[in-house]
Amino acid sequence: MKTVIEELTAVMEEAFMAAGYDGKYAKVGLSNRPDLCEYQCNGAMAAAKEYKKAPIMIAGEVADLLKDKDIFEEVNSVAPGFLNLKLSPVYLADYLGKMGKDECLGVEETGKGERIIIDYGGPNVAKPLHVGHLRSAIIGESVKRICRFMGSEVIADIHLGDWGLQMGLIMTELRKMKPDLVYFDEDYTLDYPKEPPFTLSELEEIYPRASARSKTDEAYKEEAMNDTFLLQKGDRGRTALWKHIMSVSIPDLKKNYEKLNVSFEVWKGESDSRPYITDMVNMMKDRGYAYESEGALVVDIKEETDVKEIPPCMILKSDGAALYTTTDLATIVQRVESNNPTRFIYVADKRQEMHFTQVFRCAKKTGLAAPQVKLDFLGFGTMNGRDGKPFKTRDGGVMRLETLLEDINDEMYKKIIENHDADENEAKETAAIVAMAAVKYGDLSNQATKDYIFDTEKFTSFEGNTGPYILYTIVRIKSILNKYEGMGNSLKGLTLAPALDDIGKGLMLELVKFNQVMINAYEELAPHKICAYIYDTANAFNRFYHETRILDEEDKKKQESYIALLIVTKRFLEKGIELLGFNAPEKM
Ligand code: ARG
Repeated sequence: MKTVIEELTAVMEEAFMAAGYDGKYAKVGLSNRPDLCEYQCNGAMAAAKEYKKAPIMIAGEVADLLKDKDIFEEVNSVAPGFLNLKLSPVYLADYLGKMGKDECLGVEETGKGERIIIDYGGPNVAKPLHVGHLRSAIIGESVKRICRFMGSEVIADIHLGDWGLQMGLIMTELRKMKPDLVYFDEDYTLDYPKEPPFTLSELEEIYPRASARSKTDEAYKEEAMNDTFLLQKGDRGRTALWKHIMSVSIPDLKKNYEKLNVSFEVWKGESDSRPYITDMVNMMKDRGYAYESEGALVVDIKEETDVKEIPPCMILKSDGAALYTTTDLATIVQRVESNNPTRFIYVADKRQEMHFTQVFRCAKKTGLAAPQVKLDFLGFGTMNGRDGKPFKTRDGGVMRLETLLEDINDEMYKKIIENHDADENEAKETAAIVAMAAVKYGDLSNQATKDYIFDTEKFTSFEGNTGPYILYTIVRIKSILNKYEGMGNSLKGLTLAPALDDIGKGLMLELVKFNQVMINAYEELAPHKICAYIYDTANAFNRFYHETRILDEEDKKKQESYIALLIVTKRFLEKGIELLGFNAPEKM
């Protein structure tokens, strides 16, 4: 379906041409002055220069040709040359009705033909998930859903951090704890035990302890680096131990992501790029891309237009060890082989921007990614506490994801119990659903690249631009619809009638923006645009709700049309939150 703006522009273009002007001046946009009009066209001002005529004259001529068009309720030319437009309520109701009936809610699938691999989540195995990983999971999940809704084929890959120094640290610490473990015995040739030598909670304690010690104890750190090196070289005992770490951690990660309503088709990690590294490095050497510099192997990726220094991309360290860039490059090879994507999207902390610039340039230069393949980095800002500093626990430690979610859950539970006397289990279930919305909406409503302040008080509020407010609005609609049905009415086959007043029309005007919003959200990979849409829609709906007698309306036809409007509002709001990655409860 064409968007309202496209339809208006087409009508406008015809009028410009009929009046003797170039159609290129006929661009219509949303109004900057909602008090005066709903849409506007500023083309007469630009046309005035070409035709050497006063803009108001041009606008006047065009307006005259539009006055009797069914699509408009009002067309005004105003100084210095604006064309102010108001839609006819008949057209608006008809358009909204069509959107509501369409499977894609009136959205053209502009993403058709793309095959996208989206890389997000990126947890580091055996390290506790922290709030930074929360952002990647939340934003990535929403972007995935947006791309899918726009018709792209999308494969989500969690890209585990499973090959780095944390593995060596765990092994070193484990050796201090249990020096007799067979994994560390070079002479051991039998099969290794099937049972891991630690439990999940032990593992969770090992890493932080090891990490802390490595910061003050240089020899200890050396040891951990050596363990990492040996693991990467394929040492038998360490590989067996690594497998245990993976088998204990991954089910726990799966559980955590499931709780967040975040899911991946592919659970590969950095370690899966290993088989591709040697060939890739040889290719880069053979074709003359990679050369030795201070012992390390690097590829130059500077470009003439660079305004700042872009250092060469390091492929191997001087000891021959692989780096973060190496595994990311080799992962591109692996992904091209497995899925041949047309586009890659990476969602990670924006402080990794230089890393991705290097990886992307190197991949293009060396032909790992074909010239037409798109490589996009969606970098997000830091989640800060109310003091404006990176989010911490009360005692100043790194905030763990689980703790944060528990806090929000408790807060939400309190509010829900306060609000009405639900039974305990029901209130718990509802609290969990609303808490998820509070966290996700709180994050997604900000432009991803910006830092934002995680404010529990604000995010869990039922008022203002929050997840709970949106859910509250949806629940309100559900409750009216239930009551309406309870009065012996059916929700089927109702038609939208043209709005009777500005408030009803205001709601419809918000709703019909959906397809344009989706096109923009997809182009800019910007979930916050969907947040803005559902917030404006929720506000317009609540205004309508407060000003309109719905359930005690005596005129049946009128009431049916109100109910039809509620049904479509609910559909758009529900689609909106689904794209953001959460859902609404039945009651709250
Ligand atoms: N594991 C990384 C981290 O915790 C994020 C991974 C991002 N994805 C990637 N392909 N590099 O910082």
